[in-house]
Amino acid sequence: MKISIASDHAGFALKQDIIKWLKENNYEILDFGAFNSDSVDYPDYAFPAAESVASNESDYGIVICGTGIGVSITANKVAGIRCANCCNLEMAKMSRLHNNANVLALGARLMDLDMAKSITKIFLETEFEGGRHIRRVDKIHSISGL
Ligand code: RB5
Repeated sequence: MKISIASDHAGFALKQDIIKWLKENNYEILDFGAFNSDSVDYPDYAFPAAESVASNESDYGIVICGTGIGVSITANKVAGIRCANCCNLEMAKMSRLHNNANVLALGARLMDLDMAKSITKIFLETEFEGGRHIRRVDKIHSISGL
């Protein structure tokens, strides 16, 4: 499975740790930066990572900033993206089961590495439930013209 990943400076250290761990678990990674912890603007990194998911270059995206808020707002501007900012395991699970989220946002300043790994694992391993949720997810995209 291929994952597009991006962060700003606040998420850089967590991004590096998550990349290492995902590679150890046989995920293929497309890293859209940032490539060091110098101060940057999160839209410059989250947007191309989300576009890569929307164009099916990868299966899922992970975007990381201090709170997960800025990168999630950015990713959700890309047509076809359903980005969920998840700060606990239940949110990660439900974002896949009910919302078919295709990008996970993480807040590096709000959680430790173990929690970020657990959230990521549940997100990547949970299948969309389908059924009535298909209609609801379709409505999101028809509102935005997709
Ligand atoms: C950077 O200081 C911070 O604003 C950013 O990482 C993010 O939390 C924005 O939503």
